[in-house]
Amino acid sequence: MKDLLAKTWFYRFPLPGGAVTPSYHDGALDAVHTTRVDMMGRALREHFGNAPIASAVDLACHQGWFSWQLTEHGVDRVTGIEPRDEHVADARAVIAAMGLSERIKIKQCDVHDTTPERFGVHPLVLCFGLIYHLENPIGALRRARALTAKGGLCLVETQVVPGMRGFVDWGNYRFVRPLKGSFGIIDEMEETHAAEASTTGICLAPDTEGLMWIMRQIGFTDVALVPPPADGYEQHLYGKRVMVRGVAV
Ligand SMILES: C[S@@+](CC[C@H](N)C(=O)[O-])C[C@H]1O[C@@H](n2cnc3c(N)ncnc32)[C@H](O)[C@@H]1O
Repeated sequence: MKDLLAKTWFYRFPLPGGAVTPSYHDGALDAVHTTRVDMMGRALREHFGNAPIASAVDLACHQGWFSWQLTEHGVDRVTGIEPRDEHVADARAVIAAMGLSERIKIKQCDVHDTTPERFGVHPLVLCFGLIYHLENPIGALRRARALTAKGGLCLVETQVVPGMRGFVDWGNYRFVRPLKGSFGIIDEMEETHAAEASTTGICLAPDTEGLMWIMRQIGFTDVALVPPPADGYEQHLYGKRVMVRGVAV
């Protein structure tokens, strides 16, 4: 327990005995997490009502905070998936300290290597804070879809970029296509060592319309934005980060 309190975490975890892990910048980032929990809770209530949720996958689970939050929101078993050694070790340690090792399993894996054969299909899949760090965000969304059981809920939360609208001549002025959305190219090449960043450095961040359009094309229906709470984190309030829900077809 003492070891857990010796480091600064991305999240505040309540530990047995009443201590809480210290979080980055004296808690200055906590609102981005609590806002997302609020949005997640709303989406779960709307989709599942009061029914128990047998299992969930938490993609890019980092230190396992949302995996823990899922157990607080009625999910029986959670698989947290994360590629970074340090996060896997931290998540396992804090989950063990909280007495949740039976309900939350942390697996080391890149999102692009996940398969239903390895991880199963689940009524709920979270994909929070991930796709804008990836050079293949659509591939990752397809993996998330593959892990979502038919009729199950997938929640995608991401930073978004301003979108471009209009029409392009597709090879010839007579073949005109409307833009369905846009991706912004973001440089994290110098930060691939950073705990929250991309592992490859080239990032494609979607705009909101494009993300929703892609989700409809890859096998989700009822695709909609999850609204933030009135006192939520500023990025969610101003649409710079969004949570999109989709139901697997
Ligand atoms: C900004 S953090 C978000 C963590 C958490 N999901 C959240 O929303 O608070 C980004 C996470 O994505 C992970 N990540 C980066 N590239 C990944 C990949 N290719 N596959 C899976 N996870 C990845 C990082 O290690 C980190 O834990």
